[in-house]
This record gives sequence, C-alpha cells and structure tokens, in this order.
Amino acid sequence: MHDHQISTKFTVYDSSEELSVAEQELLDKAIAARDGAYAPYSGFKVGATVLMKNGDIFSGNNQENAAYPSGICAERVAIWSAMAALPDGKIEKIFISARSIKTLVDRPVAPCGACRQAIAEYETKQQGDIKIFFTGEVGKIVKANSIKDLLPWMFDNSMLS
Ligand code: THU
Repeated sequence: MHDHQISTKFTVYDSSEELSVAEQELLDKAIAARDGAYAPYSGFKVGATVLMKNGDIFSGNNQENAAYPSGICAERVAIWSAMAALPDGKIEKIFISARSIKTLVDRPVAPCGACRQAIAEYETKQQGDIKIFFTGEVGKIVKANSIKDLLPWMFDNSMLS
C-alpha cells in the first residue's frame, strides 16, 4: 500500500479590480443574473455567467420550487443554456456570485457538488480546462483553472468503459 496525495491550486483576488476588464464585465453579468434569481425559499441568490470559446455569453440563476428538490442551481442553468444553444461549443470561463437576503455573504461561494460534476462533464467533453471564478456578495474572488482543482479524482465517462 501507499499513500496518495492530490494537491489543488487556486488564485485568490482581493477584489474585482484585480481582474481584467473583460473578466470584470463577465462577473458583473453574473451579479446581474444573481439579483434576478428566483429564490423565495432559501433567500440565497446565485448568478452564473459562462463565456464560450467563440465569445458567446450565457447567464443563469438559481430557480427554486415549492417542491424543494425540483429547484436548480445557477451554474447548471447557465451551463445547460450554453450547451443547448451551442451543442459543439466549448466553455472557457464561468463566473459565479452569491448573496443572501439574510446575511452578508463575504466569502467566496464555491459551486455545489452537483454543479461541479456538471462542469466536469463538459471539461471532459471538450478536452479542455474550464476556468471557474467564484465569489460572494463582497470580498475575495477565487479562480480555479480547472474543475480538477475543485473535484479531484472525479468520476468521468472513462470509468464507464
Ligand atoms: N445554489 C446555487 O445556485 N449554486 C450553488 O453552487 C450552491 C447553491 C442555490 C441552490 C438553492 O436555490 C440555493 O442556492 C440554496 O442552496
């Protein structure tokens, strides 16, 4: 037997001013999407914006439901909108922002496990890394250069064969 260690890497930005102008604009779109989220049950609003390799941009926000599990996260709304519109498209970057009506979200909000798995699917499909930027309402922004940094030892289609 032997021990095995996977280390992952992130970039932490102190504020959006450290992002490029183009990245700031994409984060602004995620914030605008976030504020339009339908989150009457949790009060936790999330927005996500996807930049495709061809320059197209898609946004989404969380959509809740009185039957709680029928709701869906912002990231998957944005990603699936993109992939529905561009079946052969490749995702370059995803921006995520979250805020709560109950409390100030002052730390980065990472995508949930199910959204990480959805991002992993398209990283595998496109055979190219997806950069993931995530933040709260205020405070630092974190960038992962690949879903592999957020979902080490991930399940992918190679395990089905
Ligand atoms: N949510 C997202 O939209 N993305 C995440 O990555 C985490 C959670 C939503 C789902 C639900 O509507 C609310 O936030 C509280 O969990």
